[in-house]
Amino acid sequence: MLSSSPEETEALAGRIAQELRVGDVVTVAGELGAGKTIFVRGACRALGVTAPVTSPTYTIGHRYEGEPDVSHLDLYRFTGVSAAEWGDLEPYFEAAIVFVEWPEAAGSALPAARLHVRLEHVDPTTRSIRLDGADARLVERLGRADPGVRHRNRPGDERTRRRR
Ligand SMILES: Nc1ncnc2c1ncn2[C@@H]1O[C@H](COP(=O)(O)OP(=O)(O)O)[C@@H](O)[C@H]1O
Ligand SMILES: [Mg+2]
Repeated sequence: MLSSSPEETEALAGRIAQELRVGDVVTVAGELGAGKTIFVRGACRALGVTAPVTSPTYTIGHRYEGEPDVSHLDLYRFTGVSAAEWGDLEPYFEAAIVFVEWPEAAGSALPAARLHVRLEHVDPTTRSIRLDGADARLVERLGRADPGVRHRNRPGDERTRRRR
């Protein structure tokens, strides 16, 4: 899929989030500036999170109150997760939907993800968004609609916010 604006990426993420449930882990991969945090923000909004959603810079993660709660991990600084470090992460996985930026860093320590999202730069405002996962029907369903057609948001459009 192609997204031609941050708003489209948020809207797409919101639509995906509505298919998720407590315990689901979603990896969000892509280079710096690809839109991983924008994607997680859109998902959070759709799950009722009203708190600001920003990259966890000084901590490894944020946990936001929503319906259900949403955890947002950023493993950028990790090179493999040790058992001790894993102990710190475990609470983020309890009774929440979990989005993980830079999942590569965790190696095999992460619980199995239900969905893998990969964002890539196409041009300054366009990103390709690819979905993958063991549940082929879920991936097919989520990948079917073109976000650019279904969510042609303009700045100030209420559509994204209405999903709260
Ligand atoms: N189609 C798009 N989708 C997502 N972000 C976009 C898009 N076009 C431009 N951007 C910009 O790219 C940047 C993505 O930042 P961010 O989500 O923090 O990236 P990451 O978390 O992957 O490092 C933002 O400044 C955003 O405005
Ligand atoms: Mg980020």
